[in-house]
Amino acid sequence: KKILILNGPNLNLLGTREPALYGSTSLADVEAMCRAAAERLGYEAECFQSNWEGALIDKIHEYGRLFKQGEALGCVFNPAAFTHTSVALQDAIKGVDGLPVIECHISNVHAREPFRNHSWISPAAAGIVIGFGVQGYVIAMQGLVRTQDPDNP
Ligand code: DQA
Repeated sequence: KKILILNGPNLNLLGTREPALYGSTSLADVEAMCRAAAERLGYEAECFQSNWEGALIDKIHEYGRLFKQGEALGCVFNPAAFTHTSVALQDAIKGVDGLPVIECHISNVHAREPFRNHSWISPAAAGIVIGFGVQGYVIAMQGLVRTQDPDNP
């Protein structure tokens, strides 16, 4: 069964982008960490990053279908700046009706500029992990498995 690790705009620059806020680990390293964590939990991580809102929406739709077919457990999603702008991403998650999405932010968005305090994604999220750095992705995956597959050892 698959877990989608979905990353939004500018997260392809992870490691070199504002390292004081986001750390010095590259996206490739974060994705490798997620793949290893998924394997430990008995799952397969698919990692996808896009700077394009529509590509993220299409991926959510695809995983909505896989979830209904029993082939996906859920999704860990860092919508990056689209968190604060995208009604369309909230609608996509609500629209696929079922796919559990854990919203994840590397930095503590509540301790930053006021425009980062609001999330359009949170009303559609099954859970939220904020401020644990890139470890948050693994924590979100663990939370997803604990809640969606409680018998998982
Ligand atoms: C972010 C926080 C967002 O406000 C910002 O636009 C990002 C990254 C985070 O992971 O902390 O790009 O989602």
